[in-house]
Amino acid sequence: MIKIQIPATSANLGAGFDALGLALSYYNYVNMEEADGIFISSLDNTPVPQDESNLVYHTAKTLFDICGKPFHGLKIEQLNNIPMARGLGSSSACIIAGLVGANTLMGSPLGLDDLVNLSAQIEGHPDNTAPALLGGIVTAVFDGRTVHWVKQEVFTTLKFVVVIPDFELKTEKARACLPKEISHKDAVYNLSRAALFSASLLTGKYENLRTAVHDRLHQPYRMELIPHGREVFDTAYSLGAYASYLSGAGPAIMAIVDADNEYFCGKLKFALENMGLNNWEVHELHIDNDGTKLL
Ligand code: HSE
Repeated sequence: MIKIQIPATSANLGAGFDALGLALSYYNYVNMEEADGIFISSLDNTPVPQDESNLVYHTAKTLFDICGKPFHGLKIEQLNNIPMARGLGSSSACIIAGLVGANTLMGSPLGLDDLVNLSAQIEGHPDNTAPALLGGIVTAVFDGRTVHWVKQEVFTTLKFVVVIPDFELKTEKARACLPKEISHKDAVYNLSRAALFSASLLTGKYENLRTAVHDRLHQPYRMELIPHGREVFDTAYSLGAYASYLSGAGPAIMAIVDADNEYFCGKLKFALENMGLNNWEVHELHIDNDGTKLL
């Protein structure tokens, strides 16, 4: 049985819509072996589809078909820490697990670029799938077929503190609320900030991050779907965060925090409780530079 560890991911990073993403120290685990039939189980209490609609299974089967290898079924065990439909790349983690699992079981006929391309084709955008596979911060352009990407490892003690609301926001819904067109001025606003984000993160110019995470492509529209979202942003800034942005399509909100800001998480939890958001989770994470690993 092969064992796969897949990191959560945070996409967009403010202004880098569908282009920037990074991997986080928060993991799903998938065990997989070939079998005669479909045997899918959850190793925690997360309900997972146990038929062909299971995304790990479906993706793995697709890869066997693409490679022209006989397929009889799979035994899959899933341990899901990454919450679903919260903006932390849960579906990308399933797609990457399916691809890496199937590729490994077949003797690795596909290379890394093939897997990056296929995963983006399945997901529709590369900014969760690529960092989930590669780790670090990934800059990616997807032309519909090929992903043109750069992975950069990030050596920082910054904390990525994620606030996870107690409700789901499906990516389809969060994409449906976006404008079809934007002005030239807004395009410049976003591209300059997206470029500033990775350059500032990688060079330690953290004082730029607050400016870099502002955008006019998605966050203002999606915030309407997230009750208390703006209060959480304001609270994160009042507690000294360098930056706060909507993780992926949301509803999770990320705060980028200095390592020396020792009591940030505790104070943030206290503030959430005072807002009546007792069921919202707070996790202190770091950047994962390794991406998906076979254990
Ligand atoms: N870039 C994607 C979006 C990430 O914002 O819709 C969510 O999957």
